[in-house]
Amino acid sequence: MNKQSSDLHYARPDHYRKYPIVLKSASGSTITDVSGKEYLDLNSVMGTVNCGHNVPLISDRLVSQINTLWNSNFFPTEIQLEAISKIDSILPQGINLAALYSTGAEAIEFALRLARQVTGKQHILSFKDHFHGKTLGTMHLVKHFPDCYGPVPESYRTVIESDGSDDPAVIERYLGAIPAEEVAAIIFEPVIGYSGPRSLHKDFPRTVRQYCEENNIVMIADEILTGFHRCKGWFFSSQGGIKPDVIVFGKGLGNGYPISGVACADALSGSVNSALPGSTFAGNSLACAAACGVIDFMQQEDMPAKTIALEKLFCDYFSQPRFESYGIALDGAGALLSISFQDPSISAMPQIYLDLLQAGVITSHTQKHLRLMPPLTIAPTEFERGLEVIGKCIDATMDAAAGN
Ligand SMILES: Cc1ncc(COP(=O)(O)O)c(C=O)c1O
Repeated sequence: MNKQSSDLHYARPDHYRKYPIVLKSASGSTITDVSGKEYLDLNSVMGTVNCGHNVPLISDRLVSQINTLWNSNFFPTEIQLEAISKIDSILPQGINLAALYSTGAEAIEFALRLARQVTGKQHILSFKDHFHGKTLGTMHLVKHFPDCYGPVPESYRTVIESDGSDDPAVIERYLGAIPAEEVAAIIFEPVIGYSGPRSLHKDFPRTVRQYCEENNIVMIADEILTGFHRCKGWFFSSQGGIKPDVIVFGKGLGNGYPISGVACADALSGSVNSALPGSTFAGNSLACAAACGVIDFMQQEDMPAKTIALEKLFCDYFSQPRFESYGIALDGAGALLSISFQDPSISAMPQIYLDLLQAGVITSHTQKHLRLMPPLTIAPTEFERGLEVIGKCIDATMDAAAGN
């Protein structure tokens, strides 16, 4: 085939042509494809575009930085210092930025190295339904991926198989079976995203915090998805007075521009350098400009109110009696929300996802869940319009299942 082909649908690699649309531009909560068709974005590009697409305050920072300096590697830059001080100002008391990266998985790997440096121990405990990235190391923290990658790296071995339960009583039983003197860290998502969204048992963080304190284990909150007001507040794990030792974040920090970070409690900061922070693009000036724009934007808007309002609209809409009669279950927190069928034999979500795409609404899904992560700045009327389209798709699915 002619490599100059202008048929965009035949772009390689295959990963990028799973769906028959090619996107061109975006603004606010609307994405437009090359044919001019508009989509309501209820996915925020996998929970990254929390402030909405193309926000002038953020774009202007990037545009101005693009004409100044792009990357500096280990030399600090003016914009990097600004970003670090802004990030520090939003972190919980006693927790400060330790390293910047470009992707979530890189940041998680650093957090794990840091925990091993601090404790001198090896094992990392993680939970099978949680998700921490797709590097070889982070993939082996969880159980989503088939065992087709060869032997598990020695460093990240123990996945807590708690039958999917995060009830503290169950977790305590599993924790008790693993020698704590070998455990460097426990890592978790404050709200399960990849295989949900699903909220954790309310006492889960407290149980983990207590176990970590009693056993010299580093508590790592993976806030890559839940942070930056996606689930209420800058960091969801510090709600309810719990303070993790390490917070990892990404996604919302750059509003779509790749940047991630790791913050740690003051007591761990002495081990940061020996855990080898940094990479070629870590803390580059463009990423830092995006982060500065995001934090400025979020500080001038009432983000907590926006997140709470979206959660309420979602709950109100799906509390209509017909959804109860379909056996629809709601889960998640803030603007990281899911709909699923209580009956495990109904696996309609992949098709509902495609029907929604056809109808001009972008969501995401698992086999069981339809996942909604709207931009937090979406107008309430726009979100309600999206919910109506979802409701109609679910009605049509139920009608078809009933043979109507
Ligand atoms: C909770 C969580 N951790 C880690 C990651 C990995 O981030 P990245 O894809 O930027 O490597 C993700 C990405 O979806 C995530 O949701």
